[in-house]
Amino acid sequence: MDYEKLIDILEREHDLSEEQWRAVIGAQKFTGSVSGSQVSTLRDWAEVDTETDSETDIVDNTYSVVKYANDKARNIARKVFGNRIYIRGLIEISNYCRNNCYYCGIRRDNKALVRYRLTKEDIMECAKQGYGLGYRTFVLQGGEDGYYSDEVMCDIISSIKKAYPDCAVTLSLGERSRESYKRMYEAGADRYLLRHETGDKDHYQTLHPDEMSYDNRIECLWTLKEIGYQVGCGFMVGSPGQSVDHLVKDMKFIKKLEPQMVGIGPFVPHHETPFANETQGTYEQTLYMMSLIRIMLPEVLLPATTALGTINPRGREMGILAGGNVLMPNLSPVSVRKLYELYDNKICTGDESAECRNCLNSRVQRIGYEIVTDRGDAPSFVR
Ligand code: SAM
Ligand code: FES
Repeated sequence: MDYEKLIDILEREHDLSEEQWRAVIGAQKFTGSVSGSQVSTLRDWAEVDTETDSETDIVDNTYSVVKYANDKARNIARKVFGNRIYIRGLIEISNYCRNNCYYCGIRRDNKALVRYRLTKEDIMECAKQGYGLGYRTFVLQGGEDGYYSDEVMCDIISSIKKAYPDCAVTLSLGERSRESYKRMYEAGADRYLLRHETGDKDHYQTLHPDEMSYDNRIECLWTLKEIGYQVGCGFMVGSPGQSVDHLVKDMKFIKKLEPQMVGIGPFVPHHETPFANETQGTYEQTLYMMSLIRIMLPEVLLPATTALGTINPRGREMGILAGGNVLMPNLSPVSVRKLYELYDNKICTGDESAECRNCLNSRVQRIGYEIVTDRGDAPSFVR
């Protein structure tokens, strides 16, 4: 099978048949923990820790379909965005959640977790700090917490927009009613992130309890789009039970939705969840899937996620070199950061917002990119 040819077709036509997708996605086996040779795929593009990799790994792995996809995706992102990296200040407003997703550390049945919620004043303080640090997008993310009624949310959103009219507000608050999404949009929210989690209904039901519905989640995404939000979907790479066929469905769904943003990161187990003993997603497969998404949707906003940075110390840099163009550092008060632990060992939970900002600046510069002070809207979408 000539995988590179298929990737060329993807670049040309921005889509593949199911059979072609299956071949491309199944081209590499990404199992178990990350080995030296897997890590070396992108070695010529960044200073990876060489301690764990031998010379043989480097020589053996100078070429692979993964590298082919990574290189192509990086070139496409460079063409569309240059060396500019957008940043989003992530404010984790609450770790209360009515849901019980099997993978998630803030699920309602995690009784070991101390719960918190931020007040409007807390959130405004985070935004103030963030603005000073050059953030022009604030992402308000949280569990599905009934405290944040439409009234409460609209007040917070309009206050942020009033104080910082040059900033975008992104919401990531899970499934709500059409009316609710509409009211928050009218209050000034610009974007909404709602990962679809998997493109396969049966797989969805193995990741979530029966009370949660795949159809509703997908419906929410279409509703958000219809209302006028810039919409982000996405999934975890290597979630328990995920097969090549599921990933094919993910790509097909993403193509159909044509979202402005796609958030993907590796599944990382959390010790207080039913998936505590499941295997984590791999670094290389995450980079590969990111690259395929970039090639399929050249203008999409594609973050190198914190989860990717958690499973590999250079994960976020590598994510950029595989086609990513967004970073979402934490702006939450340090006092609550550890409590928003969706998965084990999440990075940056002890760092002040300013430290994270500086740290990312130098990480990005080291690989030849630059963080910009910009809302960073999708190129085709200026409201
Ligand atoms: N409640 C909102 C929602 O459902 O979209 C936002 C918060 S939710 C915790 C954000 C995302 O975290 C989920 O969409 C999921 O993909 C990701 N996530 C949760 N647990 C994870 C884990 N164990 N490993 C990696 N990602 C995880
Ligand atoms: Fe948070 Fe590096 S990005 S400390």
